[in-house]
Amino acid sequence: MHLVGFSLWSPSAHMVGSWRHPESHGPGMDWASPELWQRIAQDCERGKMDGFFFAVGLAPYGVYQDSIAPTLRDGIQFPSPDAMLLLPMMAAATERLGLVSTLSTTYNHPYAAVRQFSTLDHLTKGRVGWNVVTSFQPREAEAHGMDPIPHAERYERAAEYMEICHEFWDSWDADAVVEDRENGVWADPDKVRDIDYSGTYYRAKGTGPMSPSPQGKPVIFQAGGSENGRDFCARWSDAALSFQMNVVQMKAFVDDMNARAEKFGRTADQLKSFFGVQPIIGLSEAEAREKQDYLNGLVPPDGSLALLSGHTAFDFSTLDLDAPAEEIPDMPGIRGIWGAVTSLADHGLDAMTIREGARAYGQSVLMPQLVGTPQQVADELISLWEESDGDGFLVTCPVRPGGYAEFSDLVVPILQKAKVYRHDYEGSTFREHLAQTTLS
Ligand SMILES: Cc1cc2nc3c(=O)[nH]c(=O)nc-3n(C[C@H](O)[C@H](O)[C@H](O)COP(=O)(O)O)c2cc1C
Repeated sequence: MHLVGFSLWSPSAHMVGSWRHPESHGPGMDWASPELWQRIAQDCERGKMDGFFFAVGLAPYGVYQDSIAPTLRDGIQFPSPDAMLLLPMMAAATERLGLVSTLSTTYNHPYAAVRQFSTLDHLTKGRVGWNVVTSFQPREAEAHGMDPIPHAERYERAAEYMEICHEFWDSWDADAVVEDRENGVWADPDKVRDIDYSGTYYRAKGTGPMSPSPQGKPVIFQAGGSENGRDFCARWSDAALSFQMNVVQMKAFVDDMNARAEKFGRTADQLKSFFGVQPIIGLSEAEAREKQDYLNGLVPPDGSLALLSGHTAFDFSTLDLDAPAEEIPDMPGIRGIWGAVTSLADHGLDAMTIREGARAYGQSVLMPQLVGTPQQVADELISLWEESDGDGFLVTCPVRPGGYAEFSDLVVPILQKAKVYRHDYEGSTFREHLAQTTLS
């Protein structure tokens, strides 16, 4: 089983309102302070996690009530500082942990992306990963002085983008740098080429800006959900990410992504599948349930609606929120997410109102909350992992930093004892961690 810590560099991540928990952040560790994230990185490394992953949005959600006020009031995934700049500080505090930032293909030229990730791969000694997103929020486009780009075109552009990135990375042979002091040859010019790319959306001419880094290319993560998005993911990424509420949906995702990978001439081995989970751990089941009730009680109704409206691009304030959950408009963008919300009914929430559905969304953005003793959480992870055929989990903890330490110290030893999870890292790069199959 592979595990990756997961969050956003913002006051709260996947549980709206969790910043209000008395143990969230703390003296000398503001949500933005590097010390908080260095400590979380160390906690994840103690749990031998493959890596730590930052999701990134570039603008506040402003669809609900046509306003950013609920996003600001409830501290929802905003502000959004640049996580790429935080990674080296986390790298300096750790030795093995992989470190992933999101970078949008829509607002950076491929040459700049290659330069940033190659630099980071050098700085981290081969531990960097890139979550490739095309960015879906109109406000993100507007902030960059652009009109929103239609969904299909975003993915067409992204495909050209990835072609250019690979051409730049491949423009240096791995052994191009010879550092031959005697003969005065630093790099062999025959092993470095210019690229000359001309597509529908991008042009790029020249040589990759950085000599080959320890991994050569960052580990690529992607989380497309649509047809286009899933195809893009299956073609270009090392790991597919998804939020699925239950094991049946997880298994369907894995099967679908494996079939798509094959379509692009790749094997299931080359595309790992990761699912988001939100553990809430107690020393007894009753304590865990109490923690869950307390945390879920912090989730503000308006804030949940603001997050849901931001993700679906539909203003939920235009609906009767006390109407049954089925009565939402049949619109693309909403149906998929709402179908997943109403599948929560499997967990005893049938006959939900729209308001209740939104609240469930604000609790975990549709990731399963794994609630119980360390043994119960470990057992559930093992059963989801075995029955879904997936490779691992993105672990998001509402209470930071404590949640990650709790997970590493209490749940990981049980996974190790059950012989499903490594006792130690075998390699030193992120790519090697993800490929590791030994448990020693
Ligand atoms: C685990 C996970 C992480 C994601 N991280 C980001 C992110 O950091 N930034 C972003 O703009 N979108 C993020 N998304 C949204 C996806 O990139 C994607 O837009 C979404 O799943 C809808 O799929 P589609 O683009 O194929 O319609 C994430 C989605 C998931 C499931």
